[in-house]
Amino acid sequence: MISKETIQLIQNSIKIEEIVGSFVNLKRRGSNLLGLCPFHNEKSPSFTVSPAKEIYKCFGCGKSGNSIGFLMDLEKYSYVEALKWLANKYNIGVEETETTPELKLYQQSSDSLFIINNFGQKFFSEALFETEEGQDIALSYLKERGFREDIIKKFQLGYNPETGDSFAKAAVVSQFNPELLQKSGLVVLRDEKLRDNYRGRIIFPIHNQSGKISGFGARLIKKNDKAPKYINTPENEIYVKSKILYGSYFARMAIDKADECLLVEGYTDVVSLHQAGVENVVASGGTSLTPDQLRLIKKYTNNLTIIYDGDGAGIKAAVRGMDLALEEGLDVKLVLIPDNEDPDSYVNKIGPSAFKAFIDLNKKDFVIFQLGLSLKEAGTDSVKKSAIVNRIAETISKITKAEHFTKRQDYIQQVSEMLKIEEAGLNDLVNKFIREKIQKEDNREQTNIILKKEDELSQVQKSEGDKLDSLFNKDEFQERAIVRSLLEFGLKKWNEEITVAEYIFEQMDENDLVVMIENTVLIKIINNYRDLFSRGENPTKNDFLYFEDEIVSRLVISLMDTQTEISSRWKEHLEGEILTRNDLFKEEVTSTLSYFKLRKIKKLIDENQKELEKSIDEADQFLFLKTHVELKMEEQLITKRLGTVIFK
Ligand code: GTP
Ligand code: MN
Repeated sequence: MISKETIQLIQNSIKIEEIVGSFVNLKRRGSNLLGLCPFHNEKSPSFTVSPAKEIYKCFGCGKSGNSIGFLMDLEKYSYVEALKWLANKYNIGVEETETTPELKLYQQSSDSLFIINNFGQKFFSEALFETEEGQDIALSYLKERGFREDIIKKFQLGYNPETGDSFAKAAVVSQFNPELLQKSGLVVLRDEKLRDNYRGRIIFPIHNQSGKISGFGARLIKKNDKAPKYINTPENEIYVKSKILYGSYFARMAIDKADECLLVEGYTDVVSLHQAGVENVVASGGTSLTPDQLRLIKKYTNNLTIIYDGDGAGIKAAVRGMDLALEEGLDVKLVLIPDNEDPDSYVNKIGPSAFKAFIDLNKKDFVIFQLGLSLKEAGTDSVKKSAIVNRIAETISKITKAEHFTKRQDYIQQVSEMLKIEEAGLNDLVNKFIREKIQKEDNREQTNIILKKEDELSQVQKSEGDKLDSLFNKDEFQERAIVRSLLEFGLKKWNEEITVAEYIFEQMDENDLVVMIENTVLIKIINNYRDLFSRGENPTKNDFLYFEDEIVSRLVISLMDTQTEISSRWKEHLEGEILTRNDLFKEEVTSTLSYFKLRKIKKLIDENQKELEKSIDEADQFLFLKTHVELKMEEQLITKRLGTVIFK
């Protein structure tokens, strides 16, 4: 976490005109500054920056926000990345506070998973090279496919024997923790016994950026229609599928040197191309590229060449990936492998030098390629042709970054020529898509906030009975209210002895949290608050607004956003009373906690009811009935209190 002091320093230094000015050429116009909008395509400036209000707004596309939001939207930074960028700009040293116990635990668990994976890799390599089964079944298979021993060793390929539990046994002998072993995906629990998950499979270790093994892909040797060809490590602390590109560790230097990254679908494609001397290659694992994977590529190069099988599924995945790649500002080329081959089989068929020549010769610009393909398909059909114009305009509209402005214009020119349409018309169409996209993004962010606001409003307007019912359907709304109270009022005095935070924690123990709250991000915030608090710190919402984990900071922002609206609604509702939410914090804390308790009681009533229905013994039934009555009374008590607190 970045320290509060650092954040304060950054906030004090921010001058929005300087931040935006680093990316956009701004000219003074009265008290504002004006420039060409970096988010959409325009020839005359409608992008305005207001130093006084610390915001920017584009009157062309409607995009607006503050400095941090600007960096996040334009540069696709996370909060923390944006803060670090700002700190760097203003020469502010970033002070990070010590990690929370929760983070520490997470760290320990990741470390253990790496150790287990390492142990696994050694075991599987040994099984491949040193055991009879491995040599006979697995090594011979790999050699038959043409893999050389040095390449097998470089990629640390291995074999998991068919026995059923030979790895699990070895791991238990080495005293690895059974829970972590399962988390690693290397073993599974079946009939209360630990069994190998990748029995009879070739093992492909998957290395992260620094060369540590974060997971595995495991391929069946014998064709089997009942089992999937590949199994992968389940998601865990160190294996996050969306962030992994197979081969990136071995490819990074070559990518840097060639200033190009080749993307293929499969593990075997990567290994075979390496063997053929083509080392700037990574694999996506047969799915569309994720933004994180693209960002990884972008660290090394702006040139992405996608080499896919010529079959339909491959191209479809590729097309989806490439729209995203354009958005990230990558220059995307496409090569299709002919004759139902994939890069692995094709390079084995025609040999390394013919393969390299084929790639160089058949590299096509993605946008132009897509257009050519669809034009051929459409022939003279004018309806189809206008659909193509729309589709291609949408694709071009993905190129939104300011620095790629010329590239976008080049496309517009080239494409309008190919389609024999007016360049200005295509330009307008592209802009339309950019506008729509920006609006959609803004809407998505605001939808949650608006929904919550509507909830608030409807509560104020509905009749009391209705109100309570509708609130129970909106559990998360209440849970958010608790977190909001905690972040905002936590440090205030509840009474002479304790603070609001202490009161909340008294009323709601850790078990309650896990059982009652579904949104784990909320639980995380509460637990973090508790940790900070118990260590004598005074947590405020700022600690969470700039939290490392973006999901947390986004949630906190939306909580704070609702808050300002609520206060005015409340004031309206309280008609003439000059009380602010701050004055009413005790009532607010009491009522949010009451809802929580009420839900807990309702849950207990339900559970008790079930027991009652199941029981046959009369004495038992009597006890359950008695509990039922007691719980109902407590429920009524709280309902009554709630009525007087919120709805007076
Ligand atoms: P070989 O058939 O051994 O040459 O592997 P391949 O990489 O050519 O396989 P294929 O073209 O069928 O699939 C491409 C990639 O998609 C693989 O490398 C895997 O990453 C992934 N994949 C294929 N089949 C499966 C599967 O059944 N499950 C999962 N999780 N991934 C798969
Ligand atoms: Mn293959």
